[in-house]
This record gives sequence, C-alpha cells and structure tokens, in this order.
Amino acid sequence: MYSLSELESIVRKCNRCLLSKTRTHAVFGEGSTENIIMFIGEGPGYNEDKQGKPFVGKAGELFDKMLAAIDLTRKDVYITNIVKCRPPNNRNPLESESEKCIDYLRWQVKIVDPDIIVCLGAVAAKNIIQKDFKITNKRGTWYTRGKYNIMATYHPAAILRDSNKKRDAWEDFKSIKKMYDKISKEI
Ligand code: URA
Repeated sequence: MYSLSELESIVRKCNRCLLSKTRTHAVFGEGSTENIIMFIGEGPGYNEDKQGKPFVGKAGELFDKMLAAIDLTRKDVYITNIVKCRPPNNRNPLESESEKCIDYLRWQVKIVDPDIIVCLGAVAAKNIIQKDFKITNKRGTWYTRGKYNIMATYHPAAILRDSNKKRDAWEDFKSIKKMYDKISKEI
C-alpha cells in the first residue's frame, strides 16, 4: 500500500490521459489519514490548476463557508476530485478520462479510509454512487457501501450559478454534520 505522499508523487507525474498535456499542475487532494470525511469534486478549475490545490477558486470559497456553517474547517476534511487534471475550459471530464483517473481515487479512499464520503455534484455522484444518478432527485440521500456512508449534494459552483439550490444544500450539510458527529462519538 502506498502512503499518501507516494501516491501524490505518482499522480503529479501521471500521463495516462491527454489532460496531462494541457495541465499546469495535477491536483492530488488535501487532507490527512486522520480525516473521517472525504469530499469529492469534479476536477480542478483554472485556479486549482495554477496552484496545484483543490477548491481554491470561487467554488472553494463557498465550500469553506458551507463547512464553517457546520463548524468544520479544511483541516477536518479530506478533499479531492474525480479527475486530477483540469479539463480544458472546465468542460466535464470525459468518461475515458475519469476511467483512467479513478484508480487514484480508489487508492486515496483505501489510504484515508474515511467513514463518510460526500460527492460534490453530479459528475462525482455518477462516478461514485450510480452511473445514472440524478442529483436533483437523489441529493441528500445516504447510501451505505460496506463501511462507507455516502451522500451527494450540489457542487458549490452549481449553487453559485443558481442560488435556489442553497436551501437544499444547507439541509444536506446539516445531515452531513449529524453523520459526522455520530461517527466522531463512536470512535
Ligand atoms: N471544482 C471542482 O470540482 N474541484 C475543484 O478542485 C475546484 C472546482
């Protein structure tokens, strides 16, 4: 089994797909093996590609606010994406790209071993929960897969585009916090 830093250096040099040709930095993820909750986004955007860090742009700012609203900070969470390199013009990752990249995420899940996995947006939910996942119908629902408690909620960028999604996202975050507190008590 790799350590997180060993896996990170592999990902930073990855050239399994064409996204490696246009990226500035591969964005591995942030957090530690202490974290019991993992958030999974879609893929790096412009700022993330430049800095090599996940969720540092506008969507990241909103994500931080949403975490703060449930009394969590970045230090409490592991955060990564389905694809580690920026799709040009922020298009959705192609199936071929996520298929090539998802092994890295599988390793991250194995190493971090979180109890809770939250998919941010439809791309993550389709890759993690179910291929035909409908985010508007199924967000906020908890799924159990082995030891993992999995939920999908709206991607912060989707909330920035449509503020009507805020109310539902807030309900989801309250539910995430409930699960987080329950599991923290059990450990
Ligand atoms: N959007 C994502 O899905 N991931 C990031 O890291 C930044 C924006």
